[in-house]
Amino acid sequence: KTVIVLFGGQSSEHEVSRMSATTMINEIDSKKYQVIPVGITKEGEWLVYTGPTEHIKTGQWEKYATPAIISPDAKQKALLKIVNGHVKVIPVDVVIPALHGAWGEDGTIQGLLEMACIPYVGCGVLSSAVCMDKVFTKLIAKNAAVPQAKYIWFQKEELEDMDKLVERVEKKLGYPCFVKPANTGSSVGISKAKNKETLVNAINLAAEYDRKIIVEEAIIGREFECSVLGNEAPVVSGVGEVLPAAEFYDYDAKYNNSESRTVIPAPITAEEEKTIRKIAAKIYQAVDGSGLSRVDFFMEEETGRVLFNEINTMPGFTAISMYPMLWETAGVTKAELMDCLIELALT
Ligand code: DAL
Ligand code: MG
Repeated sequence: KTVIVLFGGQSSEHEVSRMSATTMINEIDSKKYQVIPVGITKEGEWLVYTGPTEHIKTGQWEKYATPAIISPDAKQKALLKIVNGHVKVIPVDVVIPALHGAWGEDGTIQGLLEMACIPYVGCGVLSSAVCMDKVFTKLIAKNAAVPQAKYIWFQKEELEDMDKLVERVEKKLGYPCFVKPANTGSSVGISKAKNKETLVNAINLAAEYDRKIIVEEAIIGREFECSVLGNEAPVVSGVGEVLPAAEFYDYDAKYNNSESRTVIPAPITAEEEKTIRKIAAKIYQAVDGSGLSRVDFFMEEETGRVLFNEINTMPGFTAISMYPMLWETAGVTKAELMDCLIELALT
């Protein structure tokens, strides 16, 4: 079978995607599947790449690539490679959208693949879109009685009356609080505000990334992650703890600071683990998840409350990413995981 791995993309997580895709491509059983990497540049250009995977990671891949697009034509189910003005049709069995963030994890690429009638790994259009948007995720979580941090949200236009926004935040949430663009991943555009001045700066920064901004109360405590895998009867992994090297697990702490650590299994009680896994399954079902997702949590130090933070429908597969590591601890190798994800897409 032919598997297309889409990587890169136009989002702020382009580089993260290249790292995830490299892991995935290296782990897919090449005897069982013919893997074709297709990169999307930061400008949105589609190129089929045939060189060594190392270049995907380093960013050198574009030099060795040829224009190719996935046809939305449901009869073709194909990758159209353009060589010297001629179109070569390559039939495709399954696509792995190893893309994070906008145009990758938000239902848009999923929509294209639905039209093309090509099976793909991961969540569908609606669940991808809902989980990408932190405000919509909150609404679904609330509806499913999943506990979460308090928040307010507003549109960019409302920044004109900054004093009013600050007042709303101070009244409902207080400091410290987290300011986030509603639709980014890997903590891009997120900052922690400790007072009025940093709050205003944080809001302005978030507004550079999105027209929708969410502010959440900061939960003082620990951070946990849990992996979910499957379609109708998903399985939930054990729990891992994140120990960020920075004040919070921001982009730099995630990918550039080797002092950030993950602990698997998390040193928590059996009861706490049960609670986290139960909520992970509940939210996955509530958002109509399929394929895979990683669910992130806080545990409040003072009260011990477990609070749902967010669900990532295309979690990172980088060298430090928790999703595959949690399964490895459970005895599922990365190669077996890739096999399982492809099978889930085909069923
Ligand atoms: N958004 C990144 C890739 C993650 O959640 O792992
Ligand atoms: Mg995330």
